[in-house]
Amino acid sequence: MLTYHVISLFPESLTSYINESILSRAQEKKLINIKTYNPRDFAEITGGWRKKVDGKPYSGGPGMVLLPGPVLRAVAKAKGRASTKKKFKIIIFSPGGTMFTNTYAKNIVDKKITDIIMICGRYEGIDARVKKILKAEEVSIGDYVLTGGELPAMICMDAISRQIKGVLGKFESLEENRVSSHEVYTRPEIFEYNKKKYKVPEVLLSGDHKKIEEWKMKSKQAENK
Ligand code: ADE
Repeated sequence: MLTYHVISLFPESLTSYINESILSRAQEKKLINIKTYNPRDFAEITGGWRKKVDGKPYSGGPGMVLLPGPVLRAVAKAKGRASTKKKFKIIIFSPGGTMFTNTYAKNIVDKKITDIIMICGRYEGIDARVKKILKAEEVSIGDYVLTGGELPAMICMDAISRQIKGVLGKFESLEENRVSSHEVYTRPEIFEYNKKKYKVPEVLLSGDHKKIEEWKMKSKQAENK
């Protein structure tokens, strides 16, 4: 079982996605487990009434930076009692980090990591000492800047979970590994739109498996260009 520990100020933003479809089934099958931790629950009460999780950056600049204390205490909770059986990986989401790819996802599964702690930043980022203290890896899901790390966390959980044996059905995983094109069709055979007719490629209706494989191979090569 792979456990994802997501450290986020907005854990509710994850729930609808992780409780649907493949990720939900994977949790039911006990192949993955998803836990969330809110740094706010680990913040100290300051000024008499508010639990503070962020502060102004030293040397000025816009925005707010997440305080190290609440994040580190949330991580400590996620780590729980030390166990030699567990193999942790700690990720901080950041647009400047290592690019997340399918190979990265496969690697996590191949290395038999049992627990991934995913720290989702917000605002201008997280106090840089968190990365140093935890020896965490910064990971980016693409060359653009998002509002926070929650979408990256969901994307990584989805892509990694698909690599775990048993998460996808037998047929789905075979299809994913075989020469399979993303150019797919369903009914109707002829679809009319704005008075124009769009047909399913003849070969897919032919029942000739060899020809269909060749067509899929060609269309996959075209996609990869
Ligand atoms: N946080 C903000 N933008 C991000 C990105 N592109 N990847 C990962 N984390 C981020």
